[in-house]
Amino acid sequence: MRVLLIGSGGREHALAASLAADPAVDQLIAAPGNPGIAAVAELRSVAATDPQAVAALAVEVAADLVVVGPEAPLVAGVADAVRAKGIACFGPSAAAAVLEGSKTFAKDVMAAAGVPTARAATCRTADEVAAALDEFGTPYVVKNDGLAAGKGVVVTDDRAAALAHAAACGQVVVEEYLAGPEVSLFVVTDGTAAVPLLPAQDFKRVGDGDTGPNTGGMGAYAPLPWAPPGLVDQVMAEVVQPTLAEMRRRGTPFAGLLYVGLAVTAAGPRVIEFNARFGDPETQVVLALLESPLAGLLHAAATGTLADHPPLRWRDGAAVTVVLASAGYPASARAGDLLTGAEQPGVSHAGTARADTGELVSAGGRVLAATATGADLAEARAAAYRLLGGIGLAGGHFRRDIGLAAAEGRITLP
Ligand code: AMP
Ligand code: GLY
Repeated sequence: MRVLLIGSGGREHALAASLAADPAVDQLIAAPGNPGIAAVAELRSVAATDPQAVAALAVEVAADLVVVGPEAPLVAGVADAVRAKGIACFGPSAAAAVLEGSKTFAKDVMAAAGVPTARAATCRTADEVAAALDEFGTPYVVKNDGLAAGKGVVVTDDRAAALAHAAACGQVVVEEYLAGPEVSLFVVTDGTAAVPLLPAQDFKRVGDGDTGPNTGGMGAYAPLPWAPPGLVDQVMAEVVQPTLAEMRRRGTPFAGLLYVGLAVTAAGPRVIEFNARFGDPETQVVLALLESPLAGLLHAAATGTLADHPPLRWRDGAAVTVVLASAGYPASARAGDLLTGAEQPGVSHAGTARADTGELVSAGGRVLAATATGADLAEARAAAYRLLGGIGLAGGHFRRDIGLAAAEGRITLP
């Protein structure tokens, strides 16, 4: 099988490593890719959000399967354009990717499908925002209604900060705060059949102890030793199946990766957000534990044959990934700092580039992630931090507590 992977982040590096390791894949092409992905795939340049350009590249390389990593190409209609050429594509249509692209749309689908989520109001004016803040109370949750690369949400007790974020965004969704540990559950689906991957936990805040601003994600671990038994089955029954059914009913079936972001509250799991693609950096830990070949799974979802796919096999133990961010992230991202020790198995590149000298330098906010597995979370943590310890980046910073509370049994359910 010839596979074309679209994207250039850490998630795509992890996907590329798994796809390259699948014996069914005899050629892997990535576009535009990054210096890390170049070690496992042939790179081509493409404007990833240009549907016709991606479709033309898929035809040119005679791809049997196109895998679209990030949300922006999906929202732009890349999967539709590829499928229009008769090529299988893993990733939802533009119409279905709105589940991620618009928080108001996602809330509407959840309401129609009876999916448990936070009560919310879409607000356009400062008066509407103020009224919604009063209705839902503190902590205030204010979300940019459009795509914001994981940084469009402010959770704060500071009313002025909540109002300021709303004013800066334009249209926002204000919602009820959901108390409880968060879970990222990835579901591979062909629109009807749906297969959950292992649940993972992401660390959204930049600082240890969940302090500082939200980021795209500073680290992750899987599986979740504290998760209630039956959590995944419950989420499949109460969230995923009704959502897929509602999308089919609307004539826009969702096929691809449904990312369910949840809070496990006292009242049960509640949806925080849907995304239309694999999460980053949760993908790094989930794929590190997946034993089944990835290309076959994604191809089955892309061709409507997921019901016939054999049950997934998982490695024992745990996986941890720790993101190394550049100086200033998330407010800004310093580029051009020399990066050393980053070309090792388990290191997924995100914001890296090759300087004219051939040396690796930083080129983005999240520079890379170091992923390792172990017999348990404590061992996986130690191995991931050991791997990261061998990497040098001036001004680079990372969280020291990825997976720590879970490893120490300190995560409690409300
Ligand atoms: P989102 O982009 O919707 O995933 O939001 C980013 C992060 O903000 C989430 O991972 C949560 O940590 C937090 N968050 C968003 N919505 C809520 C909510 N209703 N209650 C509590 N935390 C939330
Ligand atoms: N790690 C969160 C996300 O990918 O949206």
